[in-house]
Amino acid sequence: MRKTFTLFQSHLDLAHRYWSELLSVGDHVIDATCGNGRDTVILATLGAKTYSIDIQQNALNEAKLKVESKGIAQLVTFIKGCHSKFPEEIESHSVKLIVYNLGYLPGGNKDVTTQVTTTLKSLEHALDLLVAGGMISITCYPGHEEGKREEEQLLYFCQNLSPREWSCCHHRWINRKLSPSLIILQKINV
Ligand SMILES: C[S@@+](CC[C@H](N)C(=O)[O-])C[C@H]1O[C@@H](n2cnc3c(N)ncnc32)[C@H](O)[C@@H]1O
Repeated sequence: MRKTFTLFQSHLDLAHRYWSELLSVGDHVIDATCGNGRDTVILATLGAKTYSIDIQQNALNEAKLKVESKGIAQLVTFIKGCHSKFPEEIESHSVKLIVYNLGYLPGGNKDVTTQVTTTLKSLEHALDLLVAGGMISITCYPGHEEGKREEEQLLYFCQNLSPREWSCCHHRWINRKLSPSLIILQKINV
């Protein structure tokens, strides 16, 4: 039988494929922009022990209901706060995957959006938390002003990471203007 192969349908679809390839049951992960919890549900369904952070309590409440309804609440710790500061109990070199789905909450207040300064601060800290072979997955939304700045500055930051320590790539649709894109970083096993 002839094989068929379909390119990924969206940056989130591609991100989810990376996550499921990478994770094993019991791995520690961080969802740094929990929102309504769709990504958190995917991570915990893969069996990962998940810290889920968001600055909006209403979003976390929604996410909590979702994980309870899926029977995976025991795998998730919710934290209300800014991701520029991770909980102190998370040790260096202990996390397999850190996920950022940037921008604002779909259907929520568009003024409460991730900001380039805090996102970069968070990312710098996140690099240290990863185990060797661990990944950071960042979905960017250049279709709005702050999202465009974030994507530009994150790309600049990532392009300057040492190739001996980091594999970095950027997936973007080159025939869909200002569509969301995906940055993936992997800490090299050395
Ligand atoms: C695109 S939404 C995330 C979608 C979510 N991952 C999901 O699966 O539904 C971005 C989220 O980032 C949150 N956010 C914005 N700034 C933040 C910050 N400094 N620290 C943590 N979360 C932040 C927003 O409140 C919003 O819920």
